[in-house]
Amino acid sequence: MTAAAQGGAASPSSPDLPRLDLADPSWAGDPYPMLDALRDASPLAESKRGLEVLDHAAGLAVLRDRRYTRDHMSIVDAVGITSGPAREYKQRMLLSQKGEQHLRLRLPLARYFAPARTESLRAQIRAIVDTLLDEVDPTQPANLFTALFNRVPAEAYCMLVAAPREDAPFVSRVSDQVLAIFERDPSKKDSIEAGYAELFPYMRERIAERRAALGDDILSSLIRLQQAGELTEDELVDEASTLVEASTDNTAHQMGLVVAALLERPEVWRRLVGDHSLVPRAVGEGVRFEARVRVVTRIATGTTELLGHPVPAGGAVNVVVPAGHRDPARTPDPHAFDLDRESPPQLLTFGGGAYACIGMHLAKIEAQEVLDALLTRFPTAELAAPVIRGDNAYVATTPEVPVVLSPR
Ligand code: HEM
Repeated sequence: MTAAAQGGAASPSSPDLPRLDLADPSWAGDPYPMLDALRDASPLAESKRGLEVLDHAAGLAVLRDRRYTRDHMSIVDAVGITSGPAREYKQRMLLSQKGEQHLRLRLPLARYFAPARTESLRAQIRAIVDTLLDEVDPTQPANLFTALFNRVPAEAYCMLVAAPREDAPFVSRVSDQVLAIFERDPSKKDSIEAGYAELFPYMRERIAERRAALGDDILSSLIRLQQAGELTEDELVDEASTLVEASTDNTAHQMGLVVAALLERPEVWRRLVGDHSLVPRAVGEGVRFEARVRVVTRIATGTTELLGHPVPAGGAVNVVVPAGHRDPARTPDPHAFDLDRESPPQLLTFGGGAYACIGMHLAKIEAQEVLDALLTRFPTAELAAPVIRGDNAYVATTPEVPVVLSPR
């Protein structure tokens, strides 16, 4: 889920702090000079969404600090979903919970996506990538976002819940539709509710099918918890629906950002072609370099202080991911795409602490397999036209990554 998901009340204005302009046009192009200038002035800034943390260490500390929480329902309110099944789902789901209830809903998913278990899915993910690449004409320019990046996470989701591959276009469409909630645009309310009205019956149908033939997929594992009385029937549907929302869009765009950064740097691409053992590093550095989720928001549960500034109870503190990922105090020469970094920084784009993304390993494995397959099968791949991005202060997107896989 995008971090815009976690919004909340803004803090009162502090005149001594520099302003971060969320509408600055550079967010859509190159926001780094603007962010560097702000961070040089102060590690903490302010915007209309609250306090803005620009340095890496302070950002990480906020994410790990139990005195801060999350407020997902503020997004639902912003879109104007005031009643009905979509609101009831949002009130019950993992992202809106705190404390024990959050842990109870988080653990079944977190256990399933533990690093070793996730690693065991690698070969199946590679098979998904290879099958999708077989379907692309390598001699013609193709938009790899629609042909590959957007499809791998949806097909991986189908694999995780033991749904047929044919369901992937539906999963992809519905998840795009419901994820529009993070844009906080009230004009999308009807479409979002319509998306959920399709998603919930689909999940119920899949659950009914799996009940008849339990396996080792995540849906079967959730069904077993429900049968043991550890999840209610609604919570079972909610957990599976949450995974659709969480696992598709962010991963697709992050893959696009990583592959685009590499194809834009042919010398780095060629080095990877010659040494595939660098692929995990390339994905880590690519996520640092251009992060999909650009802000992770926390809400202060009580009055506190941050970098010498008061934070009122209910005040929003926003960790500005691209500023932290390119903080020179943590990452020397931060604007270079460098495969040889000795101690890469902890990535902020997956959040942290009690709410940290549970799908980080899966997302990294998907991106690694995409990259490795491209390097193996299409070492001479090149951009057919400039990458089209649609970035803002909340997320970075790559709707068009035009590539010729095997230029003649
Ligand atoms: C590049 C891809 C991804 C990015 C950038 C991303 C980012 C995030 C962020 C920022 C959060 C909130 C963290 C916080 O508040 O501290 C989050 C939570 C979450 N993510 Fe991801 N995510 C990605 C992929 C995935 C995948 C593939 C899955 C599922 C398999 C997933 C499942 C979840 C879940 C379930 C949560 C909620 C955790 C909780 O509230 O306890 N994510 N993600």
